[in-house]
Amino acid sequence: MSRSNRFYIETWGCQMNELDSQRLAGQLMRQGMTPTRSVQEADIVLLNSCSVREKAEHKVFSRLGRYRLFKKANPDLIIGLCGCVAQQVGERALARVPDLDFVLGPARVGELGDVLARRHQGERVVAVGFPERADFDYDSISRDGTHKGMVTVIEGCNKNCTFCIVPQTRGPERCRPIAQILREVEQLVEQGFLEIELLGQTVNHWREPGGEQDFAHLLDRVASIPGVERLRFVTSYPRDFTPPMVKQFARHPNICPYLHLPVQSGSDRILRLMGRGYTHGEYRELVGQLRDARPDIALSTDIIVGFPGETDGDFFETLELVGDLRFSSVFAFKFSPRPGTAAPRLDSPVNEETGSRRLQELLALQESIQRELNESLVGTEMPVLVTGRGNEPGAQAGRTTCHRIVHFHAHNGDTPLGSITPVRIEKANPHSLLGSRLLSSISS
Ligand code: SAH
Ligand code: F3S
Repeated sequence: MSRSNRFYIETWGCQMNELDSQRLAGQLMRQGMTPTRSVQEADIVLLNSCSVREKAEHKVFSRLGRYRLFKKANPDLIIGLCGCVAQQVGERALARVPDLDFVLGPARVGELGDVLARRHQGERVVAVGFPERADFDYDSISRDGTHKGMVTVIEGCNKNCTFCIVPQTRGPERCRPIAQILREVEQLVEQGFLEIELLGQTVNHWREPGGEQDFAHLLDRVASIPGVERLRFVTSYPRDFTPPMVKQFARHPNICPYLHLPVQSGSDRILRLMGRGYTHGEYRELVGQLRDARPDIALSTDIIVGFPGETDGDFFETLELVGDLRFSSVFAFKFSPRPGTAAPRLDSPVNEETGSRRLQELLALQESIQRELNESLVGTEMPVLVTGRGNEPGAQAGRTTCHRIVHFHAHNGDTPLGSITPVRIEKANPHSLLGSRLLSSISS
């Protein structure tokens, strides 16, 4: 193949990064390039990075160090740092990694073509920051190999959770006009996507720019589009989840009975120090409303342990909340101090050992809950959206509407990727379900 023809993108972090990688790939494919699975074969390597925790950021630089070595065999290789580390480190990345060709922040993803053109003329471009005018350049997205259509509804974040670097790396909140969102969803349905996922750091804080409509209205409109078999949205901010939004779960069966609702802690004192703006009682109340509206709803959450000042008593309240609310999954993290955020300056930091012990304790509790919840599903039949191959030979994998992973045997040949097929659940693990495909199709 000729020069600069194959590209490789490595993606870390959240769904917004996944979609940004699809946007980067789409732009390269428009220029006639093709993706490759082998980084050694690539002429362009992009690292779409995450800086939400310190460990992820360190890994970026060791990875770039490895990619540099490929320049020995291929001196024309172009290496770009994209994503949240790009925004955070900016120009300093060029000094730290001498062979790095460019740095492209998350709000500048649409400028990849221009950046590459300038690189070909010899410039090491740093494109970071947040342009005054948000242009939602979403028409060249490569959705190859994905079975859910991700649609941005809001970019950036205006919350100031004291631990979080995202408002710095993704900038202030910018909402996309409803007409654009609906058009993109309709296009995805036409292309055959059965599942739509609306994206934003605080997705339920969406408002029509300059208008009155809020996220409850947007959900209602998107769920009403014929052909949207499954609708999800991520990530919701608890304080912004209003009763009209809860109502949409009861109103539209195609809104999946699943919600990711980060709680972060079960202690009101810690929630206040985090600047989250709700109490554990208010969070529990919201969960009650959601379960009343949709009794089969599965909830997942994020929790930080070892936040500065967290005592054994505070942590116990988190364990209590997790024990009471029975989440379908918990993403638990040890507090990681991030530059430019307020939390690292708070009193009484929690030592590593205590943080690790709390993390293990929380994970063990959650694992026993997940085992019970998943075992209660054995014997049921569930529609599964097929997403790929399973662990065992001949097996396929997919997701239930409640976002559980299912590995299943099809017996009489593969079910097409991206279709929905009924599966009987026969066995349960804490992190996945196992089953067999039933013959009749629930929906396709
Ligand atoms: N609203 C965003 C949150 C991004 S960060 C979203 O859409 O997911 C994802 C999760 O990482 C947070 O909910 C939090 O639990 C965790 N996190 C963020 N900053 C952290 C830090 N400094 N240390 C440990 N965990 C952190
Ligand atoms: Fe981060 Fe809080 Fe926004 S966790 S992304 S600052 S809602």
